[in-house]
Amino acid sequence: MTEALWEATYSDLAAKSFGDASQEIVALMPLLPAGAKVLDLGSGDGRNAIPLARAGFNVTAIDISKTGIQKLNTLSMSEGLSIQASVGNMTTFVFHEKYDLIISHGCLHFVERNDWERLIKEFKTHTILNGLNVITVFTNDIQAPPDLEDLCIGLFNEGELYDRYSEWEIVLKKSYTFNDEHVGGVQHVHAANKLVARNISN
Ligand SMILES: C[S@@+](CC[C@H](N)C(=O)[O-])C[C@H]1O[C@@H](n2cnc3c(N)ncnc32)[C@H](O)[C@@H]1O
Repeated sequence: MTEALWEATYSDLAAKSFGDASQEIVALMPLLPAGAKVLDLGSGDGRNAIPLARAGFNVTAIDISKTGIQKLNTLSMSEGLSIQASVGNMTTFVFHEKYDLIISHGCLHFVERNDWERLIKEFKTHTILNGLNVITVFTNDIQAPPDLEDLCIGLFNEGELYDRYSEWEIVLKKSYTFNDEHVGGVQHVHAANKLVARNISN
């Protein structure tokens, strides 16, 4: 298995592995109730979890990368933030409670289809009424680059993420391609689907 590209920037406290917080997360923060419970599954080094905790939300962050979670803990402790961060595999994550917001940014395509299908069902079941899911995935509109091929085992078909939320209010859906530049000048082009959806159904 290839060592994931992001491990290098997770080892560097000063590096921004994936840039600043996702724009859609920044945009919805003022809409969340005080003390909202947030789950960031595949949190990486906390580019979304940390700003959410700074804003006073109650954040649980899970990632399979020990280095990523260590960095998240170091950064959050240095600011006196409290984030429940742990190393874990999202495919075996057990949902015990409901959340106001569930985030999965850039991760579900790294697990098999049957795993992400289960996870999306769990996200929906474990989101409170009027709560939000914010999900970004890579699609097979562009093939995985050779150095990510053995990681991208669950690429989505264009639009199927949106279809799974047909009974929710779609706040934002966006299909796009983008250039991703990693440490050492490695460049990739990806096709992605981004979804912000609100639970209006239970
Ligand atoms: C492209 S990074 C995105 C990180 C973060 N969501 C962000 O937007 O900055 C993908 C993340 O998914 C994590 N990941 C991949 N497979 C995972 C799994 N099975 N369980 C938990 N995390 C996983 C990786 O360790 C990595 O941190």
